[in-house]
Amino acid sequence: MQPVEIKPSVYWVGAVDWDIRDFHGYLTPRGTTYNAYLITGGKNVLVDTVKQTHFGEMLSRIGQLVDPGRIDCIVANHVEMDHSGSLPLLLEIAPRAEVITSPQGEKGLSRHYKKDWPFKTVKTGETLDLGGRTLQFFHVPMVHWPDSMVTYLAEEKLLLSNDAFGQHIADSRRFDSEVGWDILREEAAKYYANIVMPYGENVKKALAALSGLEIEVIAPSHGMIWRRYLPEIFSCYRKWSGYQADQKAVIVYDTMWGSTRKIARALQEGLEEAGIPVSMRSLKDNHISTVMPDVLEAKAVLIGSPTLNNGLFSTVGAFLTYLKGLRPRQKIGFAFGSYGWGGQAVKEIEEVMNALGWRRPLTGINIQYLPGAEELARVKETGKKLGEIILQEN
Ligand code: FEO
Repeated sequence: MQPVEIKPSVYWVGAVDWDIRDFHGYLTPRGTTYNAYLITGGKNVLVDTVKQTHFGEMLSRIGQLVDPGRIDCIVANHVEMDHSGSLPLLLEIAPRAEVITSPQGEKGLSRHYKKDWPFKTVKTGETLDLGGRTLQFFHVPMVHWPDSMVTYLAEEKLLLSNDAFGQHIADSRRFDSEVGWDILREEAAKYYANIVMPYGENVKKALAALSGLEIEVIAPSHGMIWRRYLPEIFSCYRKWSGYQADQKAVIVYDTMWGSTRKIARALQEGLEEAGIPVSMRSLKDNHISTVMPDVLEAKAVLIGSPTLNNGLFSTVGAFLTYLKGLRPRQKIGFAFGSYGWGGQAVKEIEEVMNALGWRRPLTGINIQYLPGAEELARVKETGKKLGEIILQEN
């Protein structure tokens, strides 16, 4: 339970959650961390706390550096409880510590914890002199909550970015270079797709607001600290927030008696014949949160459902609800399905695609009972046509 110095007199004092596998509905097979950072020298400032379940672990790390009762300020960059959860316990030990937060942060923390804490709200760009070093606060609203804020330590070129640039990885190591780009990119994409994707425009604004800062290290509130792969992760955030996608497709579907799967496979063959890489994501075998990185990065999203009781198959219905919340943009959509009687599922999928503003250059496919050989050949041809359309996209 050692603290880790990440810059002179700036320490990681967070906690590692090795066991969490479901983070409010998002599967986290690698676990996660709740990163809190203690700045010492001059004032003792703690930037963010940890989930309440991990308070003891954070307190132990802080206690190896300073008397926790002598913390002068706690910066609450974000209200969500994985970062604010230890505030009530810590403020019992350090009752005079000021809680520095955005105006929205004060509202959220007051509403949630119902405590009369010594708040100090800060405007965006406002600074705090630590006695030789300076903290600066930037509001980044809706990245990903209204209260979201990041904190910059100018002299160390260190950005404490809270949820932005996070990844859900539990590890004994703290720095990006120790884990490697492939795992980091995979987890950062999954995190962006499931947490940040609806707020691309806000991410763009935040990147622009921070573009004038010299940044050597980004220390987020989940996962590894970025210092080697900064250009790579900035490039990914620019791509994702610009809703740019690759010339590939993801086929998300479920099947009842195997017909919708046959259609999915025929579409896959056609797309591949056109030269488009395809990810096949059966909702029987893939959790909705693990499908979202494919949706984030694919130009075309094909969604298939059997009709059950005049509507969507329930797994596809759940996926569409999740998708509507995460609002991926600028996709080519294609709906397909099968039915015995009724046949409403394809229309319901198309309605969601329309609501998301996706282009649907080809009419969906809806086949009664089992698709025959000729029908499957036509489906494959449709897949190929869709592939050719994807190839024409920049
Ligand atoms: Fe990591 Fe929005 O909380």
